[in-house]
Amino acid sequence: MEQDVASKKLHPICVQISKDDASASQIYTQNNTTDATWIFALAAARTAVTVYGIWLGHVYHWHIVSAPMQMTLFNNVKKDHDLRKLLDPQSKSLIGFNDTLLLLWKTIGPPTSFATPDSFLDLTNTFATGREFFDDDPKVTLEKFGIHKEHFSENEDWDRYPIVKQLLYFWDASEAMVDVFVGKTYKTDDAVINDTQLQNWMKASSDPEEGNVRGLPKMDSREALKAVLTSLVYRVVAHGNSRQMRSLGPGLSFVANYPPCIQNATIVKPDDATFKIADVLRYLPNTGTIGSMMTFYYIFIFSAPYEPLLPLYGNDTDLYFDVKDDLRNKALEIFREKIGNFIVDYSDENGPLIHQWPASIET
Ligand SMILES: [Fe+2]
Repeated sequence: MEQDVASKKLHPICVQISKDDASASQIYTQNNTTDATWIFALAAARTAVTVYGIWLGHVYHWHIVSAPMQMTLFNNVKKDHDLRKLLDPQSKSLIGFNDTLLLLWKTIGPPTSFATPDSFLDLTNTFATGREFFDDDPKVTLEKFGIHKEHFSENEDWDRYPIVKQLLYFWDASEAMVDVFVGKTYKTDDAVINDTQLQNWMKASSDPEEGNVRGLPKMDSREALKAVLTSLVYRVVAHGNSRQMRSLGPGLSFVANYPPCIQNATIVKPDDATFKIADVLRYLPNTGTIGSMMTFYYIFIFSAPYEPLLPLYGNDTDLYFDVKDDLRNKALEIFREKIGNFIVDYSDENGPLIHQWPASIET
């Protein structure tokens, strides 16, 4: 991509398409292509973006790493522990959902080239190699990719890369709630060190035979605990945005915009003059693919959550801690309020879907 210095807009200048058979790889630029082969190359690039977004951007970040952390929590921390009071309400459906996704792959999964659960697990395994727990956090990701605010802000912060602004907003909201939780629950760093259940949870999470999550910190301070809890709270709340109408429509639901797959594995040569615009259509989603993609999207936006993050009868109901005035409950109310404000700002002309944001990862 090339960026215009003034408008900060990105323009595609080059696409490389490759296969396992490296000899079939091709590089497309506007100098060596026809209109048809350039559009083909752009469609292939958009397919890659869509598939990356679904399986790595969404499922890996939110589903795959959070689930073992929740399982090891359930196995090592008793239900009446404050950690469970904070995390249980957001940890209700994920493990069951992940199982269901793997078992009912063809029925509920999107029609991507990852046609079997094993192929997805291979992808996940490759992506996870050398990756650490905090690598999924948005600020670490931006730093590692060298993505800086000044390069993606024209009139206001991140207006040329809005999803970054959204994810950082969820991060800040999560961090603020976790700060209060840790400050109130653990008076000193020693309290963290001496919490056997917490220590056992972290040990099990890191253990390759159990959680197998790499890069968790030595749990010897309140700062270390805040970092882990913020990441975990953030992953679940950020996932909730996928249930909002605007996250999927109209951009993604016009399936040819972001195809989940291309329908022909033959790589066209950049200078193939016999390849016409009409031939591009054979690579774009078939009607069956469009249908299954819409079914997949509709699961998110047209099913009501089992439990919404924002309670039906107000943010000061269904609180996590026993005493209503507990500062941690107040922090929870503020957290809910921030997400509620986001939903209002984010909503389309159909109005805000306040209770469509699930408390847990359900889909
Ligand atoms: Fe999901």
